[in-house]
Amino acid sequence: MTVSKTGLYEQLASQRSSLLAGERDLTANAANCSALLFHSLPDLNWAGFYFVKDGELVLGPFQGKPACVRIRVGQGVCGAGASKCETVIVPNVHEFPGHIACDSASNSEIVVPLMKRERLIGVLDLDSPSIGRFDADDADGLEKLAKILIEVSG
Ligand code: SME
Repeated sequence: MTVSKTGLYEQLASQRSSLLAGERDLTANAANCSALLFHSLPDLNWAGFYFVKDGELVLGPFQGKPACVRIRVGQGVCGAGASKCETVIVPNVHEFPGHIACDSASNSEIVVPLMKRERLIGVLDLDSPSIGRFDADDADGLEKLAKILIEVSG
């Protein structure tokens, strides 16, 4: 039996709840979330976090190949999500002006802002080798996951 995408995010939510139980350290929780996402969601080549530091996005915990360390707000897909404080889905990164290519295998991308008391504290970024990998169900599942991560962490 194949599990639907929303079913997969429900399963992830319960795994995430046990992973985060009782721990408030944001770095530790983000590290486990990136591992959970990378190993549970199909067809990804990168999953991880950038956190706002001194007005820039700075690389946080991730799974995948080494990535660029600093991204200006407004630059690339991550910077676009950060400046709009909105989820950005890019079906084909090669058609996105200013896309920052960290891994040449990436063809599509989703960036979800991390908001704490209405302030941007970072972004969650997922890359896929498939064109058009991410849709509204991914946005919904990842936004819920990001919200819980921020609520439980500090
Ligand atoms: N592609 C991103 C950069 C981060 S990597 O994908 C990990 C961007 O354009 O912002």
